[in-house]
Amino acid sequence: MESILPEGIVERLWDNLQTRSKSTSDQIHSRAVADYLSSDRFFAEKDKLFRKLPIVVAHSSQLPNPGDFIRHDRLGMPLVISRTRSGEVAAFRNICSHRAATVAPQWKGNCHHFICPYHHWTFDLDGTLKHVPDETSFDAGEFDALALKPIAVVEKFGLIFVRLEGDHEIDIDAFLGQVAPELEGLQLERHNFFADRDTPLDCNWKVMMEGSLEVYHFKFLHAQSAAGQFLPMSAIFDDYFPHQRHVMPRKDFPKRVEAADQPRRAVLPNYFIFPNTVLTFPHDHMTLTQVFPTDLGKCVFYNALLTLDIPGENKARDYWQRALDYTQAVNQEDFDAVESVQDSYRFMDAEERVIHGRYELGISRFHRACDQLLQGYGGPCGSRIGVG
Ligand code: FES
Ligand SMILES: [Fe+2]
Repeated sequence: MESILPEGIVERLWDNLQTRSKSTSDQIHSRAVADYLSSDRFFAEKDKLFRKLPIVVAHSSQLPNPGDFIRHDRLGMPLVISRTRSGEVAAFRNICSHRAATVAPQWKGNCHHFICPYHHWTFDLDGTLKHVPDETSFDAGEFDALALKPIAVVEKFGLIFVRLEGDHEIDIDAFLGQVAPELEGLQLERHNFFADRDTPLDCNWKVMMEGSLEVYHFKFLHAQSAAGQFLPMSAIFDDYFPHQRHVMPRKDFPKRVEAADQPRRAVLPNYFIFPNTVLTFPHDHMTLTQVFPTDLGKCVFYNALLTLDIPGENKARDYWQRALDYTQAVNQEDFDAVESVQDSYRFMDAEERVIHGRYELGISRFHRACDQLLQGYGGPCGSRIGVG
């Protein structure tokens, strides 16, 4: 079982290689270091990007059965995501409506209902209040209003998104735009969760995101690991504002294309779902990586591996464990570099600028999207076209 490639991508890569063309922007951009050091900007990003936009919190395969649940704290809000008896996904704040204890202390599991450990108020899988011990001590007329605080949630293409703020339902098709049909082709919902990992990092979340939005560094930083698998400086970048796609040709791309031999194995598609999620599609699995801001100069990098298996043809667990170990070894090279970037900012003036070259166009697009969604926070820190 292999997922499907975006239409026309093999032809465009082939054409680029034949004509020695490159996917680049017209302009060099630069950003002020203040962008990564300003607490005003940081809180605006947390508020406008991470509270008001849909954010991926799980893959559907993490909650396959009614009663399955996981906790999610990476957005800075304690959440429970659950699968209800009707098969829908529900999300609510993991804070008891009695006296605010943590309702679900376990990080994942399966249950018929949630029982708060403090006084055993009992909530249904969708967060509604079902039972209060000694209920005559309370006003039974208020119980309907004492459900756990619901959080907007939607499930699409095997991904579960929440949005912390906003009254109306999440219109996920409108949010994903042109990315949506391609995600459908890549069969996200057929993947199966294998394992995940959180890594706290000492850098602003955007510094880590930038490393996932360019492949300029690949040949150098990953020289001892992943670089040998790809044709250097040959990826194609496409803008699906505010989202993006880039596709990297593997070393054997020309040979496979000329021989019409499994082109799906000759490229690596990557999708960036704004503001913090990257989906990567090797031919038989996918990785879901995310960066969550935790403090001005701190973030958490989340990495999950999901396999594309046909039942009965499952590869051994150690095959997938090796795949996961491999991605984590490559990621470690990025972690060292991005933490050094943040450390260096301490010694730079706020108005000094870092440079994003023409082949780093994914980064320029990312910042442009951030600036537009922050509306007005671009200011003196925002993108400058041309260097100097
Ligand atoms: S705080 Fe949850 S039942 Fe009292
Ligand atoms: Fe990297």
